[in-house]
This record gives sequence, structure tokens and C-alpha cells, in this order.
Amino acid sequence: MPFKIIENFLPQDDYEKALKAINLLRNSDKDHTFNTHLETMKTVFKSKVLVNDIKLPMISLGGEEGKNQVRSLTGWNGELYSLLEFDGFGGYCPLHVMHRGGYLHPHIDHSYIRKGEFIHIGNCILYMNKYWEEQWGGATSFYKVNSQNLFNNKVQVKKSCFPEPNRALAFVHDSFAFHGVSYVKCPNQIDRYTYYMDFYIPRSKLSDFKEAYLNKNNIEFKHSDHETIFLPFKLDNSGKFLKFSIINRESVTYIRKYITYLISLNKEKYFVKPFIISRFLPILNNLIRSIDFIFSNTLKPLLKPIYLKIKKNK
Ligand SMILES: [Fe+2]
Repeated sequence: MPFKIIENFLPQDDYEKALKAINLLRNSDKDHTFNTHLETMKTVFKSKVLVNDIKLPMISLGGEEGKNQVRSLTGWNGELYSLLEFDGFGGYCPLHVMHRGGYLHPHIDHSYIRKGEFIHIGNCILYMNKYWEEQWGGATSFYKVNSQNLFNNKVQVKKSCFPEPNRALAFVHDSFAFHGVSYVKCPNQIDRYTYYMDFYIPRSKLSDFKEAYLNKNNIEFKHSDHETIFLPFKLDNSGKFLKFSIINRESVTYIRKYITYLISLNKEKYFVKPFIISRFLPILNNLIRSIDFIFSNTLKPLLKPIYLKIKKNK
């Protein structure tokens, strides 16, 4: 996916003011921390913190400065909106912090908002650390993923961008733009702060956008309708899928969402073998849904008292 790194994105003054304000944030300003095996030690803030100096970077990122980066990457000069322009930022608070041990598994973001009225086409991230060393990890990475095959075996990092102070990263976001954050290994007292911004076009402009994008980049912008999708399996150090490393309720949900995503790609004809896969995937999806339903509603309530009794007797 086309991307662009912009050094010294904010005027130095604004950058320092925002850093200072971020450092004054308290625990009570935090909304919640994600801690699953695919999204670890990532904290998001309550929208109420986004005032005064903390708001400055967001306004640049979601305003003309950010939009111009997305325009130059996509070749699109038509209507373009950022999260800033949607009530409550479309439900996403654009300030994040990651702590030591943090990790964000390869994923693609939701491809639309407002019930499909607006299509997600680009992202900008602004790194807000005073100092960062590459050996601390925490890079935003782009992955080469064979999304046309659920049972693909390997995921490779194509490019990494480290969170250098006041650096912005703009990238095109389509239904194949897998990205994530490598393990954060910074000292305990250091946090990795980022602002992020999503960019949208009206769905009615999608074909014009695709045309402009093709002219600019000579590759197709591939859109299908899906929510945020994680690769459903953990990876080993070489990027190989560990298919049966964790089987729990959460991983079953990720697998189901991934299959739903493949079905949506298939609908847009982004598959190599649509004939076979188009018949197989909905069946598989329904099968997993049924097993999950039966387990949660019948087996689990039946087995839980027995399990608790055994545990008590031990
Ligand atoms: Fe993302």
C-alpha cells in the first residue's frame, strides 16, 4: 500500500505543548486497556481529554495538513472527510498509548462508517514521544498477506516505521492494507503515544476515487465492506501461522470475522478461486456460528456448575 513518512509534522511549539499536556494525563482519563492475545497493553482515552493543547495535533492531522498527505497518496481531489468531521469522531477516540509489552496483531480497520455511507480510504498516525530507540520495537508495520486464502501459512513484514518524535505516517487503507504494531520493548517508565486519524469519502464517489487512484498509483484500490479484521491466528517469529495455539471463545470470534471478511472479498471478486470458495465459506461460517451458539447457550451453562463443583472439591 502506498505510504508516506513526514518528519517534523507539527510546528515545534505545538508539538512540545501537546507533549506536555499528554504527560499530565491521569489514570482516570483512560477509557480502557485492550488486553487480548491480538491486541495487548493498548489504552484508549476518554473523548473528554481532547481539549486545548491535546487537541492541537488532532486538528492538524484531521485538517488540511493531514488531508493533503492523503490526497497526494491517492490522487483524489474530491470530497474527503476525516474522523474530526463526524460526531464523536465516529465512535473512535484518536489518542492511544501503548506500554511495555504492547503489541497489535496484523489487521485491517473497518472499511466503512455510518452504515456504509462513507468509505475508509486512508490513515494518518502521529508519533508523540520525546525520544525513541529502534531497539524498543513498537514500529507500525505493513504486512504482505495472502488474504485470498484463509489457510495461508506465512505473513511477512514489508515495511516498518518506528515512532520517532513528531513523525507522521500517512497510508492508503483498502481491504488488503494489513498493518499492526511490533512488540513494544521500551523501559517501563516510557509510553508510546500516538494520534491517529482515518479518512473517508462518500460511497457515491467510490468509482471516481478508484479511477483517480488507478491513474496515480497504477494499482487497483480494492474495497469490500467489513469491520475491523485481525488475522485470526498467532504468529511465530518467522511470521508462520500458529493455527491451534489458542482455541478459546475469542479466537473463534476472530476466525468467524475473518471468514466473513473473506466472503465480502469474494463478493467483490477479489478471490482467485471464487467458485469453490464462495460455496465453502458461508457453510463454514454457519457451522462455526452454530457450534459457538450451542456451546454458549446449552453446553456451557450445563457444564459450568459441574466444573465449579469439581474445583471446589479439589
Ligand atoms: Fe489499524
